[in-house]
Amino acid sequence: MSTFPVTRLRRLRRTSALRSLVRETRLDLEDFVFPVFVAPEPLRNDALPAMSRLTVEELVAEAEECVSLGVSALLLFGLPEEKDELGSGAWEDDGIVQQALRALRARLPELLLITDVCLCEYTSHGHCGVLDGDEVVNDETLELLARTAVSHAEAGADAVAPSDMMDGRVAALRGALDDAGFESTPILAYSVKYASAFYGPFREAADSAPAFGDRRGYQMDPANVREALRECEQDVREGADLLMVKPALPNLDVIRAVRERFDLPVAAYNVSGEYAMLKAAGSAGWIDERAAAVESLTAIKRAGADIVVSYWAKELAAWL
Ligand code: PBG
Repeated sequence: MSTFPVTRLRRLRRTSALRSLVRETRLDLEDFVFPVFVAPEPLRNDALPAMSRLTVEELVAEAEECVSLGVSALLLFGLPEEKDELGSGAWEDDGIVQQALRALRARLPELLLITDVCLCEYTSHGHCGVLDGDEVVNDETLELLARTAVSHAEAGADAVAPSDMMDGRVAALRGALDDAGFESTPILAYSVKYASAFYGPFREAADSAPAFGDRRGYQMDPANVREALRECEQDVREGADLLMVKPALPNLDVIRAVRERFDLPVAAYNVSGEYAMLKAAGSAGWIDERAAAVESLTAIKRAGADIVVSYWAKELAAWL
């Protein structure tokens, strides 16, 4: 093996054209999914624009803009008119996400509409499932999640994405979707969802912080990677079509491990806290937000993600 001075790695870094020729990872807007929040009342967030709540009408305008910029997929989150113990706003036929889906489907037939399936935005206690005392009970929650997924499919969702972390939810959704005639609706499973401190801004936007306790009894311990592979294994067996790891940046090793073990498409969710940190540092003048965002998103792809869910998707469209 030749070494210096025969080998000079800087040779291929000399010009922009050379660097571009040998670049191993590129960002392609078509691999990005843009998360949005639909609510009965709008709530603008100027510091974190993507964390704003939009009315159905505003969402349609936003989606039209996304399409014109080249963003091809949305991930929908909803805030109901009213919350209750069970989170019934999640599966109502005229629920907020269902209304949004019908409005978007009619106007933008080409846009890919993925829905988050979870109860935490809809329950009065903010947990992702049904409570028995202080405990989130697994099996009773499954039926409600399945009902929610079917109502999303009926309203026009192209794919459903369960983020609740109950055991058996992928099988429950698959069964219910098939029974309702939606055997062609794919499931994007949040298979590896850690109990993370990086969800803060999201919980404010989605008004979904738990009223007591935390989510460590159902979301994963960030210390574990073998368990992440078991979660994926389970979801693959239950019929998941795509696997997701979340958050992305603190878990690049997990994305890589999932990529190497499974042949399903792998998504990574670049979450609200990751977005907020760079936005804040950018507005303080400490970093160049755009460069730092592009570097982060490239790292997520390099780690092995095929698909990236990111609050920068729309801005990225302008940057690329
Ligand atoms: C709902 C859900 C959460 C996120 C996505 N789906 C919040 C949570 O689990 O508390 C977080 C996304 C983000 O922070 O951007 N269960």
